[in-house]
Amino acid sequence: MEWTPTSWQSKNVKQQPTYPDAEELERVVDELSRLPPLVTSWEVESLKAQLAEAAAGKRFLLQGGDCAEVFDECESSVIANKLKILLQMSLVLVHGGKRPVIRVGRFAGQYAKPRSSDLETRDGVTLPSYRGDLVNGFAFTEASRRPDPQRLLRGYERASLTLNFIRSLVDGGFADLHHPEYWDLDFVEHSPMAAEYRRIIDTISDSIQFMETLAGRLEGAIQRVDFFTSHEGLHLLYEQAQTRRVPHRPGWYNLATHMPWIGMRTADLDGAHVEYCRGIQNPIGVKVGPSMTPEWLAGLLVRLNPRREPGRLVLIHRFGHDRIADCLPPLIEIVREAEQPVVWCCDPMHGNTQKTQSGIKTRRFDDILAELEQAFDIHRAMGSYLGGVHCELTGEDVTECTGGARGLDEESLTHKYTTFVDPRLNCEQALEIAMLVARRMAQTAERPAAVTAAGHSTAAA
Ligand code: PEP
Ligand code: CO
Repeated sequence: MEWTPTSWQSKNVKQQPTYPDAEELERVVDELSRLPPLVTSWEVESLKAQLAEAAAGKRFLLQGGDCAEVFDECESSVIANKLKILLQMSLVLVHGGKRPVIRVGRFAGQYAKPRSSDLETRDGVTLPSYRGDLVNGFAFTEASRRPDPQRLLRGYERASLTLNFIRSLVDGGFADLHHPEYWDLDFVEHSPMAAEYRRIIDTISDSIQFMETLAGRLEGAIQRVDFFTSHEGLHLLYEQAQTRRVPHRPGWYNLATHMPWIGMRTADLDGAHVEYCRGIQNPIGVKVGPSMTPEWLAGLLVRLNPRREPGRLVLIHRFGHDRIADCLPPLIEIVREAEQPVVWCCDPMHGNTQKTQSGIKTRRFDDILAELEQAFDIHRAMGSYLGGVHCELTGEDVTECTGGARGLDEESLTHKYTTFVDPRLNCEQALEIAMLVARRMAQTAERPAAVTAAGHSTAAA
C-alpha cells in the first residue's frame, strides 16, 4: 500500500472545516510546507526510545495541558505556569514512583478541536461550530466563525513562539532540580497539600546534596529536564504541510510536534487520520473510548504498527469511571494476543464529562480518581503495565472541575471558568492527582515484573 503525506486525501476524512476560499487555502498550505520545522527527527526518535522503555515498565509518561490552547493565551505567565505544574507533578511521580518520567505537554499546537456538530444554533441563529483557534474564532458572529486559512499560519507561529519560550526556559535552568523554588505556584502556600509537597521537595534536595557531597556537583540531567510536545493530529492539511523527509534517516516525520494523537472521533480504520498517521515515523497516540471493539483495535494495531516497534503506539484509554471495568479488559487481551509493545496510558478526563443542573460542563474529581484507581487495578490484575496518565490541566487556579482537596462545589464553578472547550484540573487538583498516581506507581514498583521482548509484563496477576 503506497503512502505519501497526501494519500489521506483519497480517504473518508472527518472533522475538517469547509473553507470558503479554496485558492487561499492552497496558498497557505504551500507556505506552511516551506516554513522550517518546529521539532527535529532526533527529538522524535529520542521520545520513541523513551516510550519503548515505558512500554516495558521502566518509565512513566505524564501527558498534560489544555483541552484547547488559544492564541490569546500565548503569554509568558500562562506557558511558564503550565511548565511549573508539569514539573511539580513529574517530581512527585519520580519521587513516589521511583521511575523516570517522560514529560509530554498538550501544547505548542493543540489548536484544533473535534466537534459533535458542524453547526451551532443560538437564539435562532445558526453558524459553524468553533473548531479551535487553528480554524475559526470562538465569538458567536458570522465573521469570527468563518473558517480562515490564515489561522493555520497564526497557529504554526504561536506554536513556534510557545516552543521557543519553553526551550529557553529549560536551557536557562528553569527546570534545574537545585532550584525547585523556581517552579512554585502561588497556591503552594495555601494548599491543603502544601506540607506533603514541601516534604517531597526537601527529600529530593537532601538527596541531591548528599550525592553532590559524595561525587561532586552533578551536571546534566539535574539541571535540564526534557519536555516533549503533543497535540491531536486533527487538521490534516496542517499536519501534512509539516511532514518532511530528513537527511540520513529513512521515512517521513511530522515535525510540527513530537507526538500527534488520533482522537476518538477520527480513529476509523479506513479513515483519513489513520491513513496519515500510519506513514509517519513519530510515536502516535490513539484515544480509545467505550465504542472501540477488540476487532477494531486489532485492526488499528496492524495498520499503525505492523512491525511491532516498541514506543510507536500509546493507547490512551478514556472510558469513564463507570465503564472502564467492562471496556478495558478485552482490549488488554487483544493487545496481548497481538504481541504489541504499546504504552498504556489512562486519560481519566474525557469519559467523565457531565453537565451541572445549570448547564455548565464539568468533571467530578472523585470520578477522575475512580477511573485512575481502576486503571491501576485492572492493569495490575491482568499482568499488564499502566505506563502513563493523560490529563487536561492548567497551571492557573481555575474552577472547572468540582471536588479535590478544597472541595470545590458546583456553585463555585463560575468564579474562574475560562476553558474554551473541556473543564481542566486546576494546579492544585493536578498535583493531587500526581500524588495519587505516585502512590499507585510505588505499589507496582514493589513487584517489578519481568518483561518479555514484546513488552508484556509476565508478573502473576
Ligand atoms: C481531547 O483530548 O481533547 C479529546 C477531544 O479527546 P477524545 O478524542 O478522547 O474525545
Ligand atoms: Co478535551
